[in-house]
Amino acid sequence: MQEKNVLSDNLSSLKAKIETGLEELKSSKELYEFKSVYLEGKKSKISELMKEMRNMAAEERAGYGKAVNELKTWAIQRFSEMEERMKEKELQQKYESEKIDLTLPGKETEIGNLHPVTLVINQLVDVFAGMGFEVYEGAEIENDYYNFTALNTPKDHPARDMQDTFYLSPEFLLRTQTSAGQIHVMEKKKPPIKILSPGRVFRSDDDATHSPMFGQMEGLVVDKGITLCDLKGMLDMFVQKVFGEGTTTRLRPSYFPFTEPSVEVDCSCFACGGKGCNLCKGTGWIEILGAGVVNKRVLENCGIDSEEYSGFAFGIGLERIAMLKYGINNIKLLFGSDLRVLKQINEK
Ligand code: PHE
Repeated sequence: MQEKNVLSDNLSSLKAKIETGLEELKSSKELYEFKSVYLEGKKSKISELMKEMRNMAAEERAGYGKAVNELKTWAIQRFSEMEERMKEKELQQKYESEKIDLTLPGKETEIGNLHPVTLVINQLVDVFAGMGFEVYEGAEIENDYYNFTALNTPKDHPARDMQDTFYLSPEFLLRTQTSAGQIHVMEKKKPPIKILSPGRVFRSDDDATHSPMFGQMEGLVVDKGITLCDLKGMLDMFVQKVFGEGTTTRLRPSYFPFTEPSVEVDCSCFACGGKGCNLCKGTGWIEILGAGVVNKRVLENCGIDSEEYSGFAFGIGLERIAMLKYGINNIKLLFGSDLRVLKQINEK
């Protein structure tokens, strides 16, 4: 009898232990450990109680077995309830810990900006496209014919000395001027022609205002009755758009083999309005490009009748425009990658 009481005490104390133990659990990991100690496997506490049956008298065994089984069913039920609660609680904790605060400021990503020379190209293309110019992009490697001979600069011509050339072979060279593109365009297309050709050119030249590689933008217009006046009118419009409304131009006589007459174009100083300052070296004028009326020989070289058609051409130095516009005093700053310089020039 006594034996039986001890066993039933064991049953109720195990039940109490499970009950209180369950309430103290903090995680599903602890729950699984607790479950394996009390419920699962041959060595669990409940299995141990089952084993006690072996030592019992047959008449007691049935009742005891039933009681242990009830305890087991109860325990299974309690553990699975607890498992549900624990899962729910942990899911909630996970939500809490992974919660995103949408009101926090975002991480700032640095956005680069366009290079000053690119800004100039974009602006010039924009201005000239508005006047009906199309963009033609030529090649950086040219042969002697396109860069010089067809532009009325044969082999022994002294004007070749104006541009110290990088020769790749006796025949091929790095173009010294975007004017080479004029010939390609005029060979392919008959007038009316109105093209703009931006690109890199190369000369053996190197100081604070010259670089062996620099950008040019060529313009070419060929049609019936084109004169120097058309060039002047178009340039006036161009400088007003790029340097400001009051800006004007003046033409000075110059020489290029492929234009006749040839001019050097100055614009009135946009920094001092023409009174004279550091930028214009006290003259009130700033040189911005070379231009002229297309030499009849150049038209003829391309099979265009120079009696019927005439044209003008101009070549703008892109770095020069960028330096003037953005107040840069050394061309090398434009070819370095110093972000302190490049970031200051940030037009949209
Ligand atoms: N190609 C000339 C230069 O590089 C500029 C120019 C272009 C002059 C077109 C006249 C006409 O100096």
